[in-house]
Amino acid sequence: MRAGLIARRPISDRPAGRPDPMAATRRLWPDGCGPTAVTRRRDPAATAAGRGGRIRTVHADQIAFVTANTALAPVAFVPEIRLRQADEPIGLWELSEGEYHSDQPPPFWAFAWAGGQALARYLLDNPDTVAGRRVLDVATGSGLVAIAAARAGAVHVRAVDIDPLAVAAVGCNAEANAVSVEGVVADVIDGDGAGFDVVLAGDAFYSKAMSDRMTDFLRRVARRGGRVFAGDPERKFLRRELFALAATYEVPVPRVLEGVRVRRTSVWELPGRSGQPERQGR
Ligand SMILES: C[S@@+](CC[C@H](N)C(=O)[O-])C[C@H]1O[C@@H](n2cnc3c(N)ncnc32)[C@H](O)[C@@H]1O
Repeated sequence: MRAGLIARRPISDRPAGRPDPMAATRRLWPDGCGPTAVTRRRDPAATAAGRGGRIRTVHADQIAFVTANTALAPVAFVPEIRLRQADEPIGLWELSEGEYHSDQPPPFWAFAWAGGQALARYLLDNPDTVAGRRVLDVATGSGLVAIAAARAGAVHVRAVDIDPLAVAAVGCNAEANAVSVEGVVADVIDGDGAGFDVVLAGDAFYSKAMSDRMTDFLRRVARRGGRVFAGDPERKFLRRELFALAATYEVPVPRVLEGVRVRRTSVWELPGRSGQPERQGR
C-alpha cells in the first residue's frame, strides 16, 4: 500500500453505473495529499502504556486544514525530502527560554524542526541504522523523521503524535515523498515501544514535562533492547549525560521559530542494555 493511504479502489475498477462512495470525501483531498491511514484498532504500543493510550482518528477537515495552510517545499537540511510547510506560525504562540507558552500549541507539524532535520539527515546518511527494521517515530510532527526512515529502508514505519493535525500532515507528506508510513494519533510514551526495533525522537525535549516523560520512555525502550536515536538542537531539557553523541550538524532553521538562522544540532544514541551504543548494522 502506498504512502499511508486508506485502500481506495481506482475509479476504473468500479462497476459501471455505481456511485463512487468516496466521492464527497475525495473532493476534500487536493492532489498529492491522500487520507491518512490512521489505525482504528487499539494500538499495542498504546496498550502497553498502561492507561490504554489515546487513539483518535484524523478527519478530512483536518487534512483540508493542513493543505490550506501549507505548501510543499524541500526541507532545508534534507532537500531530498519535501514537506508541506508553513511560512509563519499559525495562531498565537511564543517561544521563550526553550519552553513554549501559549493558550494554543504551536503548529509543530507545519515546520521541520532542527532536531528532526538532523535525525533525518543522519538516517539517510547511515541507512544501516534502520534498514530492514521496524521503526517507531514518536512526536513525529510533520513525519520528517519517519519519512527518512522509510527512505532509508525500514520495513515498517509507524509515526505517532498526539496531535491529529500532525498525523494528517504525515499522510500528506508520506504520499508526497512516495513512501509508506503508518500514521497514528496516540500517546504511547508511557509504554516501552514494544514491537519496534528502533525508536526515533526528533526535537522532543523542548519542555521539562515533555523531556522527563520522553526520557523515561526512551530509557525503557533501550532497556528492553530497542535501539534509540534522538535529534536535539541543544534544548536545555535534554539529559545529554545519558546519551552517546552520534553526529553534530549546523542545521538551517526558520528564524521565525528559533530567532536564529542556523542551530547546532546533534544526533544522540541512548546506550542499550550493555551500556554502550549499538554497533552499526547490528
Ligand atoms: C517540536 S515538534 C517535533 C516534530 C518532529 N519530530 C520534528 O523534529 O520536526 C514536537 C512534537 O511532539 C508532539 N508531542 C507532544 N507530546 C507528545 C506525546 N506525549 N506523544 C507523542 N507526540 C507528542 C507534538 O504534538 C509535536 O508534534
